[in-house]
Amino acid sequence: MIEVVRIGQRLVRDDRVTTHVALVSRAFGAEKIYMTEVNPEIKDTLQKINKTWGGEFDVEFIEKWKPIVKKKKEENFKIVHLTMYGESINDVQQKLGKEENILVVVGAEKVPREIYGLADYNVGVGSQPHSEISALAILLDRIQNGKQFEKSFPGAIRKIIPTKNGKNVEVKETRD
Ligand SMILES: C[S@@+](CC[C@H](N)C(=O)[O-])C[C@H]1O[C@@H](n2cnc3c(N)ncnc32)[C@H](O)[C@@H]1O
Repeated sequence: MIEVVRIGQRLVRDDRVTTHVALVSRAFGAEKIYMTEVNPEIKDTLQKINKTWGGEFDVEFIEKWKPIVKKKKEENFKIVHLTMYGESINDVQQKLGKEENILVVVGAEKVPREIYGLADYNVGVGSQPHSEISALAILLDRIQNGKQFEKSFPGAIRKIIPTKNGKNVEVKETRD
């Protein structure tokens, strides 16, 4: 099982980035995201996406990031903190791919120093600053080798049939 926790939100509200972190988590095979300091509308947005496109991806708002990280450690999840200062993803992706349960931690701006020590892996997707959205997508793809795109999203009202030209969408009247 893969879950994600996002720590913080920039002072200038970055709701769109936060929503995209949740959307990437869902579309790339994670089952749940925990979020701090977030616009409550994000939960509704993801519920609507589940209703239309299937699955039970869960969003939980949390007050503090540390209790969830500690709880997941006790449940034998490996804590994978994405940071440009970490070990290269090229060196750890194989090992990470063998882990059964993972909690991925992404930041918004500067993250508390403590997370580096609590993490089982501090992982850099390159050693240049970029974005939590891209870092998360690349990590999830590397550790699942593209298999995340074969995952089914039960109960979808709309299902895309991949096609060479145009759009082919299967539409059901209601969710099963
Ligand atoms: C806008 S960045 C913040 C960068 C900031 N300078 C810092 O102290 O980490 C927000 C988040 O994106 C992720 N991130 C950005 N670049 C990354 C990279 N090269 N590798 C892994 N994660 C990265 C990290 O999770 C980071 O907390």
